[in-house]
Amino acid sequence: MTLILGIESSCDETAAALVAGDRRILAHRLAGQEAAHRPFGGVVPEIAARAHVEILPRLVQEVLEESGVPLHSVDAVAATAGPGLIGGVMVGLVTAKGLALASGRPLIAINHLEAHALSPMLTDPDLAFPYLLLLASGGHCQLLLVRGVGRYRRLATTIDDAAGEAFDKTAKLLGLGYPGGPAVEAAAEAGDKAAVPLPRPLVGSEEPHFSFAGLKSAVLRARESGRYRAADIAASFQQAVVDCLIDRTARAIDTASGVDRPTALVVAGGVAANRAIRTALTGLADERGLPFAAPPLWLCTDNAAMIAWAGALRYEAGMTDPLDAPARARWPLDPGAEAARGAGVKA
Ligand code: KG4
Ligand code: ZN
Repeated sequence: MTLILGIESSCDETAAALVAGDRRILAHRLAGQEAAHRPFGGVVPEIAARAHVEILPRLVQEVLEESGVPLHSVDAVAATAGPGLIGGVMVGLVTAKGLALASGRPLIAINHLEAHALSPMLTDPDLAFPYLLLLASGGHCQLLLVRGVGRYRRLATTIDDAAGEAFDKTAKLLGLGYPGGPAVEAAAEAGDKAAVPLPRPLVGSEEPHFSFAGLKSAVLRARESGRYRAADIAASFQQAVVDCLIDRTARAIDTASGVDRPTALVVAGGVAANRAIRTALTGLADERGLPFAAPPLWLCTDNAAMIAWAGALRYEAGMTDPLDAPARARWPLDPGAEAARGAGVKA
């Protein structure tokens, strides 16, 4: 049985996990850094990297102890090698290299986006390739055709902000604090989603991509007008995001053909924790006759179980990495994808 130790440190969560190739999560630990970043209204890279240095070794130790698996018995050590905040990525990757050296086991350098992309398979054994993945997080908003381990075709990306970024900026504008996504979702519950007229950028467009910058500016104008309650703005904003995500995902399903026709619709990334978005995607999958899969909430946001799981799949496919594997701030999953128009395109 494959046993993989996984490490995640690409943003503001420090995490370690031990996962088996048969999908058992033997132990996992996650330490958020919200309190450290809250005074700044967002993640401060330097503070995050220092926190990873302080917290990570203890989490690794706890995971090994709880799972009863000694370090020399793991098959490989997997860590996020990018994309992400480079200081944090380096802390996790170097820690994994040290553990790999000490145990004599191979290193597996994981693309964080690949870990999100494969995470639905950890809890859903029926999920088969190829599936259509909506990957929506703080740094990314992409539609990917997941053809197999290491085989991804990017169908769409954002031409400006990521979906989670839009939630975080909206939370800031509304004074709801950090982290923004859950705060906007909570505020939206008391609001009227039809109260504030907001744009749906690129909805109905021929091109496949996402755009959220115009929505963010409209939220700012609505706020500054003083005419609307924060809850109504939050609810209207969330509905606009839902409409954008559904329209673009529907387009991707409807234009897929031949071997690229997906067998399922899957959502992953932190924004997949949003209930309104999950409900809307479930409805879309139903309409198109596709099974819908989403990881449980704790597996949607950053964690190390998904890193260990991606490590297990790569290990079983013979994909290990040398000890000089680099840390990468940017690391596109589909390097062949054409750049989307517009500036500030994320990896
Ligand atoms: O995947 P993730 O944990 O980290 C990245 O790799 O970015 O995603 C974090 C993002 C943040 O922007 C956060 O605001 C958003 O996911 N998020 C949510 C919710 N929970 C987290 N967005 C909307 N609704 C939520 N409930
Ligand atoms: Zn993530």
